[in-house]
Amino acid sequence: MGINFTSWILFIYLVFILCFDGGRARELAGTENKSLEILEDDLTEAHAMDHPNKQPHNSNHSHDHIDPSLIVFFTLKDLKVGKRMAIHFPKRDRATSPKLWPREEADAVPFSSNQLPYLLKLFSFSPHSSQAIAMENTLRECESKPIKGEVKFCATSLESMLDFTQSILGMTSEPQVLATLHQAKSSVTFQNYTILETLMEIPAPKMVACHTMPYPYAVFYCHSQNSGNRVYRVSLAGENGDRVDAMVVCHLDTSQWAPTHVSFQVLKITPGTSPVCHFFPADHLIWVPKLHAYGSSSM
Ligand SMILES: *[C@@H]1O[C@H](CO)[C@@H](O)[C@H](O)[C@H]1NC(C)=O
Ligand SMILES: *[C@@H]1O[C@H](CO)[C@@H](O)[C@H](O)[C@H]1NC(C)=O
Ligand SMILES: *[C@@H]1O[C@H](CO)[C@@H](O)[C@H](O)[C@H]1NC(C)=O
Repeated sequence: MGINFTSWILFIYLVFILCFDGGRARELAGTENKSLEILEDDLTEAHAMDHPNKQPHNSNHSHDHIDPSLIVFFTLKDLKVGKRMAIHFPKRDRATSPKLWPREEADAVPFSSNQLPYLLKLFSFSPHSSQAIAMENTLRECESKPIKGEVKFCATSLESMLDFTQSILGMTSEPQVLATLHQAKSSVTFQNYTILETLMEIPAPKMVACHTMPYPYAVFYCHSQNSGNRVYRVSLAGENGDRVDAMVVCHLDTSQWAPTHVSFQVLKITPGTSPVCHFFPADHLIWVPKLHAYGSSSM
């Protein structure tokens, strides 16, 4: 890459500061490690939910890269002020969240289902434990073939996520990261939310979505589809007064999705007949090229 790694980290860090929490600016130390730590705090918002230790019974693998219990699917016409939906927005639990590893450390450990027995020993998980099953599922999803028109990559470090993102968005684009932001830290993670307003539609000529995966350290399943997407930031109000500025992605063309995809069952539609939208949990990331003039949505 043309830009050195430290600049990258600082750039990303600044993006996070701007998007997430102005107060954290005080913590800016400027070193790679420090920035990584802070980034890690920001990225681990929903990891507790995904962490194998916290989900001893979740052995029912859906072959979808996101835990379906985290996802509410809806259509574009439901994306309107006043619409009410029950949504699961898990909170951060730093104590149990998998940590981002520096690239050198992550690259020194195999990331392959062939190596599972070795990996289980390394992390001291017994075979058939829930952690072992979660690791195996993550590895298998990471190794599965992308669907037609899709490029995918499992990033085991921030650096590898950035490299992949840059390869998709183009070397000349400045990547911008977007994520759901909780305005309040209540302990309620599942409740009805009402759409208060669509804060903006973000132009996304290209997009990379990165989803956290259950693993002993932070792993992101990143993918990008050729077909069009719309990206929105919407303001949601929970029944208990919580506010969430949530990221929504609407996939305009679902014709290549498996007919068994859970969204089709939920929405009672068939592949390719309607855009499918969903919210992003707080530590799942959306990367788009940074454009210089953002307009408000006219929805
Ligand atoms: C960052 O952390 C690594 C190991 O965790 C250490 O070897 C390295 O010296 C640290 N770098 C800085 C700039 O603190
Ligand atoms: C797994 O999920 C499928 C589809 O959602 C469901 O029919 C099945 O009962 C589940 N199995 C277990 C063990 O929960
Ligand atoms: C959301 O509202 C519906 C209808 O009012 C209710 O049946 C449902 O239990 C609520 N869900 C949650 C998670 O509060």
